Amino acid sequence: MMANLNVKRQVNVNNNDEFLKDILTGFSERQKRLPCKYFYDERGSHLFDEICKTEEYYHTRTELKILDDALPTIAGMIGPNADILEFGSGAGIKIRKLIDALETPRSYCPIDISEEILLHSSRKLKKHYPELLIHPIVADYLSPIDLHDTFATESEHRKLVFFPGSTISNFDLPEAIHFLKHIRSLLTAGDVLLIGVDLLKPEPILLAAYNDRTGVTAAFNRNILDRIAATYQTNLEPGLFCHRAIYNAEKHRIEMHLVSTCEQTVEVEGESFHFRKLESIHTENSYKFSLEGFRMMGMNAGFDQTAVFTDEESLFSVHYLTAH
Ligand code: AVI
Repeated sequence: MMANLNVKRQVNVNNNDEFLKDILTGFSERQKRLPCKYFYDERGSHLFDEICKTEEYYHTRTELKILDDALPTIAGMIGPNADILEFGSGAGIKIRKLIDALETPRSYCPIDISEEILLHSSRKLKKHYPELLIHPIVADYLSPIDLHDTFATESEHRKLVFFPGSTISNFDLPEAIHFLKHIRSLLTAGDVLLIGVDLLKPEPILLAAYNDRTGVTAAFNRNILDRIAATYQTNLEPGLFCHRAIYNAEKHRIEMHLVSTCEQTVEVEGESFHFRKLESIHTENSYKFSLEGFRMMGMNAGFDQTAVFTDEESLFSVHYLTAH
């Protein structure tokens, strides 16, 4: 047991019934689909970490560089004794940079669906920053979470929500606004949302980032099928599907699909689904924004854009949004 590390677990994490329901519903639609949140089991989270290291996936290294350059300024704007909340905290590398830059941050509430990763990174942080109050919450942050006693409490300290990595890109636009409004509801006027946002850019750069040469993204995409095959009674053969990532210019998004390489019938827990040859399962959208487009979205959700930081090539951005 570690002193001051009180982990909260909120129900429905990795709930197999919900997964099955989403598979059966998604496979019944005209455009078959699976929610991208199911990418992230232990193997999927590991594969995502590998994607972040590929040459083509510019997001992670660019965001880290932007943070390195901007954090002294950001820290000055935030001031001392902040209470921090992070959605989808994962391995916790970016948060260290933030904590190091801030003046005596008071508390940190990381929320992640993977208990193992969350505990591991929280313990490491506690060791490194013994003064920091850490309130880890194991939860799917897309479901309602009780933040009472952890973050959403009355406090005279400035609250800071940290949402790096452009995970906001994986929400459809109405959901993204809804989620930003949810974040706003946790804050008081003057509190801050620091959010990483991927930017519009030439299509070849985007296509390369989601079709890396080493095939890690393909394995990450197909892992969702491996997960179904490992969890349920099914004849599903992940090897009969291949990875495809395309850019939908009209909707400003990368779409990931798993394409059936032959005509086949897939059975899952007694239900049958027919696939034509080349028919796809749509597994993920990753929206790309203009700086102005994202500023407007923040405005809609109750935030003013106080500052925005980008890299020299304008690949990625970090927005400092203030609750109004
Ligand atoms: C987590 N998210 C921002 C990633 C993205 O770029 O949309 C997930 C990902 N999908 C394929 N590669 C990375």
